[in-house]
Amino acid sequence: MAIPNTSETVAKIKRGEPFSFSFHYLSEEVVRYINSLFAKIFASVDQIFLLDTFTTVIREICINAVKANAKRVFFSTLGIDIGDRQRYAEGIAQFKKNVIGHFESIEPELKNSDYRVNFSVKKGPNGLVIQVLNNSVIQPEEMARISMRMEKARHYEDFTEAYEEIYDDAEGAGLGIVLTILLLKNSGIGAENFKMIRGEKDTRSLLAIPFELRPWEVTTTIKKQILAEVDGIPTFPENVMELQRLCANPESSITEISDKIAVDPALSSDVLKLSNSAGFISGKRIETIPEAVKIIGLKNLNAILLATSARSILDKRYSRFEQIWAHCNKVAFYARGIALKYRLSKIVENAFLGGLLHDLGKIIMLSTDLGTTNKIADIVKDRKIRTSTVMEEISVGISHASIGRLTAEKWGFPDYLVESIHNHHAPLNAEEKHRDTVFCVYLANILCGIESRRYQMYYTEDEVLSRFGILSDSAFNELHAELKNSFEARAE
Ligand SMILES: [Fe+2]
Ligand SMILES: [Fe+2]
Repeated sequence: MAIPNTSETVAKIKRGEPFSFSFHYLSEEVVRYINSLFAKIFASVDQIFLLDTFTTVIREICINAVKANAKRVFFSTLGIDIGDRQRYAEGIAQFKKNVIGHFESIEPELKNSDYRVNFSVKKGPNGLVIQVLNNSVIQPEEMARISMRMEKARHYEDFTEAYEEIYDDAEGAGLGIVLTILLLKNSGIGAENFKMIRGEKDTRSLLAIPFELRPWEVTTTIKKQILAEVDGIPTFPENVMELQRLCANPESSITEISDKIAVDPALSSDVLKLSNSAGFISGKRIETIPEAVKIIGLKNLNAILLATSARSILDKRYSRFEQIWAHCNKVAFYARGIALKYRLSKIVENAFLGGLLHDLGKIIMLSTDLGTTNKIADIVKDRKIRTSTVMEEISVGISHASIGRLTAEKWGFPDYLVESIHNHHAPLNAEEKHRDTVFCVYLANILCGIESRRYQMYYTEDEVLSRFGILSDSAFNELHAELKNSFEARAE
């Protein structure tokens, strides 16, 4: 596929000119192109918050279109006419066995066939209209099944309700449709704005994205529990709050602050531990509290107080989530490394702290409902959804990023930290003044996700990469290798 320039395309669409391109297979390149095109389109109409929903939905729609074409190609290699009712079941069984699960195996045949998917966007009077057309005619039975599922999906209140019913559905298409409908409802786009049309020579999926959205709120019991949970989380202990006031006051003396820390042994040991950690490298080992205060400075001490207090509250209240904290430590290290590498000297510690606390909402979510959280994680991985937050929103009604934000606000965290926690999966939603920090945390989290095989490189927002000047896959991999090596060297 020839890749048209996204900025020119966006300008064209804004002028009201239609834009389209075709592909035979949903390669990473195509997905990446669609994502970055829509990141720009949504940013230009102030709807960037729709990006994750949109990319998830459009991926499902495109996969269905490619799958429909692949089915025809596969049937013809078997010598079965797809309209032959008697042999249809046989063909489908073979298709499932040979193609589903290793879809890339059919890519060469698709390429050599006349089957194509055409993707088009046009700005209409009320919003954007996206059409995904495949040049194979859907069978009446397939169409009936899809309509039935769509109809049913409109009535589900949340994803968990739908999950049991459709998970082991025969053709595996049910989950995608339910997901699409629920995401559309939840985002305010509305389920009625998605249609499938059976043409004479083709099948068309139409998605209209209105400029005016009607948000629909998922209210689940788990969501209520989670909100009550956030409400019940204790505030920081009085001595920590007092310390924060002291740190913020330029008149305070080091002795005064050190004495205050020293009366709390747990806090003292946490402060020493973190002062000696990678985030605040000072070159020499810090042994005492006054040294720590002197060397790392009041601003950093304040950050350390925040991180240690937040963690100790969560650890006391919930079982210890070693894995999450280990992940956060690594993200913090990477985020700091990214800030250093791109000479963002003002935000190095902020990026570190943002990384340390970015997933705190996950702990609250996991503690409230482990079962749902695990199901979400499975689906996100299976369906290559870029972030778990959209799934959390339609299953639970709130994402771990938003839970984190609420908690961070409750604890009176500084704005950059609230933003880093809230937007670590949706960096383009961050305000410009916090973007350096948020982007560092976001990218660090992606890199760690790649290591644990939850993410792939092409999930990364182009805008983040271009801000850091990472313009090629090799530059991306180099940065990753560099961070990984220094992290491992430190661990030894
Ligand atoms: Fe996260
Ligand atoms: Fe994370």
